[in-house]
Amino acid sequence: MTFVVAHRGASPRAPENTLEAFRLAVELGADAVELDVHLTSDGQLAVIHDETLERTTGRPGRVAEMTMDAVREADAGATFSPAAEEHPFAGRGLTVPTLGEVLDWLPADIGLVIEVKPRAAADAVVAAVSDHPVRSDERLTVISFDEAAIERVRELDPGIRTGYLLVPSQPIEPALVWATEHGHLGVLPWEVDLGLDPLPILAQARAYGREVGCYVVNDPERMQHLAACRLWGFVTDQPDVAREALGPRTS
Ligand code: G3P
Ligand code: CA
Repeated sequence: MTFVVAHRGASPRAPENTLEAFRLAVELGADAVELDVHLTSDGQLAVIHDETLERTTGRPGRVAEMTMDAVREADAGATFSPAAEEHPFAGRGLTVPTLGEVLDWLPADIGLVIEVKPRAAADAVVAAVSDHPVRSDERLTVISFDEAAIERVRELDPGIRTGYLLVPSQPIEPALVWATEHGHLGVLPWEVDLGLDPLPILAQARAYGREVGCYVVNDPERMQHLAACRLWGFVTDQPDVAREALGPRTS
């Protein structure tokens, strides 16, 4: 099956990277949720995409220079503004969660894709998941654009599946060779870079015993095509559209 991975949760419907967005993604049929982590000054893992709080909370501040308590003071619903309504989540007590809070919430049948933003966060990610069921039952994948981050994860715990995220236009083939040589699960290019026919690169990945995923797919026909090609999974902003396109969850 091809995994439907909700990008920062159901991020067009609720503030990205919040428990609210993750819950909604599950309700909408995602197989897994994707989230981003940064390290705070006191060694906690804050679930947030940017290095700074500004875009998602309206507050200034660099996560790496703040304690988790200080990050938690920001309103994670402050700036989210869907077309229909202005700031419907502002003032409702949404916070930037820690990875631990997400792990405490994670339903037993939902996968987790953790994107390590700064490589310095890799050690804390491995420690955070070490005793969690998600670590042992193949529901966890740790990904990064930074090779050093996933190399560190594998060094600390070779049992964790790791994926190499490719920046747009990055050639896939050499990245796949690198991922194979270094024991990573596979590569996740920008979906456009898979081209109209992803079968040749998927065949190559299969020959190497690797997987190919991609980000971010929101077009239902493309979703169906990628699933027909047996892509490992895709990151999407629209888990409900994906579910409708691919049919009900099977696990
Ligand atoms: O899962 C891949 C995707 O999340 C990478 O891009 O910028 O949304 O973290 P970004
Ligand atoms: Ca991400």
